[in-house]
Amino acid sequence: MTNSTDSTGSAVVDRLHRPLHDLRVSVTDRCNFRCVYCMPRSVFNKDYKFLKRDQILSWDHIVSVVKAAAPLGVRKIRLTGGEPLIRNDLEDLIERIANVDGIEDISMTTNAALLTKQRAESLRSAGLKRINVSLDAIDDATFRIMNDMGVDVSTVLQGIDNAAAAGIDNVKVNMVVKKGLNDHSILPMAKHFHGTGQILRFIEFMDVGNSNAWDLTDVVTSQQIAERINTEMPIAPAEANYRGEVAKRWSYADGGGEIGIISSVSDPFCGDCSRARLSATGSIYTCLFATEGHDLKPFLDTSNQAALENQLKRIWEIREDRYSETRTQVVTLRPKVEMSFIGG
Ligand code: GTP
Ligand code: 5AD
Ligand code: SF4
Ligand code: SF4
Repeated sequence: MTNSTDSTGSAVVDRLHRPLHDLRVSVTDRCNFRCVYCMPRSVFNKDYKFLKRDQILSWDHIVSVVKAAAPLGVRKIRLTGGEPLIRNDLEDLIERIANVDGIEDISMTTNAALLTKQRAESLRSAGLKRINVSLDAIDDATFRIMNDMGVDVSTVLQGIDNAAAAGIDNVKVNMVVKKGLNDHSILPMAKHFHGTGQILRFIEFMDVGNSNAWDLTDVVTSQQIAERINTEMPIAPAEANYRGEVAKRWSYADGGGEIGIISSVSDPFCGDCSRARLSATGSIYTCLFATEGHDLKPFLDTSNQAALENQLKRIWEIREDRYSETRTQVVTLRPKVEMSFIGG
């Protein structure tokens, strides 16, 4: 197995000298929500070609990829979808990933609607340490418009409470802000989560995929978000928790905790991007905005773990993506993979 390090101390770096640290694993392309910025119902309807069961990687295959990624520097695994909780045997996967040498952190990005108390407990005992929950408003009328599935805010808040009760108390809440749709919820959301220990992060609406009709005029910038909060609830910038953290941290001056702002449009963070994404079909995407992935399947049906690791290393070494830093120069309309396919 490859375990040598380069001069930066990393097992592998890409062409822009960025190490590989995180692997985001999509376990399904399906979701029980139809968020307007991600899976608009007009596109993701009954005619949409979702993956068939036999196109989706087995847990054995995913664990093989994780085992190949760990010696290359991956320490953090994030399970995503679509909605990962749709897979009712997720606990088996978590337990197996938790046993892979080198993996220090397993978390999940979820809408929490299916997070019952019992489910939260089984996920926790399998080894899930943290969750990041999508919630785009704190009033039902706006939230129902955002998820387009008639789901109430209380369902998601109950999911968060269930997680906390089960000991998954490291919760972040992700709110995608789309101008004119839910930006009136910025302050109410901040007030709701202030002092709870649950970290609210505001995310600039991004031009991911091809179906969300993105337009730059729909973006409320991180600066505007920070200013809006600061006028009523003073905040000051805080240090990043780790290199490559996507959210910029801000602390409340009154000691009520912190918020994060993810500014992939107005202030991109590609320079430190150490994330690879594994689609449910077994392709590695080296950028959220990639057009094509690198198919790992030919390396998964053999038991040649060294060849799989070598392929992953090769993919990372030729990587030079920095889409968010160049989006004004490249044609933003070129075909891109859907966010629900590679999991954000
Ligand atoms: P932590 O490990 O808790 O710091 O999680 P995270 O912020 O890396 O993961 P999460 O799934 O919560 O990401 C929140 C959102 O940030 C995603 O849904 C995306 O909108 C955005 N995001 C995450 N990674 C990237 C990235 O590599 N590029 C861009 N442009 N946006 C990203
Ligand atoms: N812009 C920003 N974030 C998005 N997500 C999905 N679509 C978009 C988009 N267009 C992210 C949200 C959600 C996660 C599952 O995917 O953060 O919480
Ligand atoms: Fe589902 Fe998350 Fe996309 Fe909403 S943002 S449709 S919850 S995958
Ligand atoms: Fe990484 Fe691509 Fe996002 Fe830049 S746009 S931070 S390279 S995933």
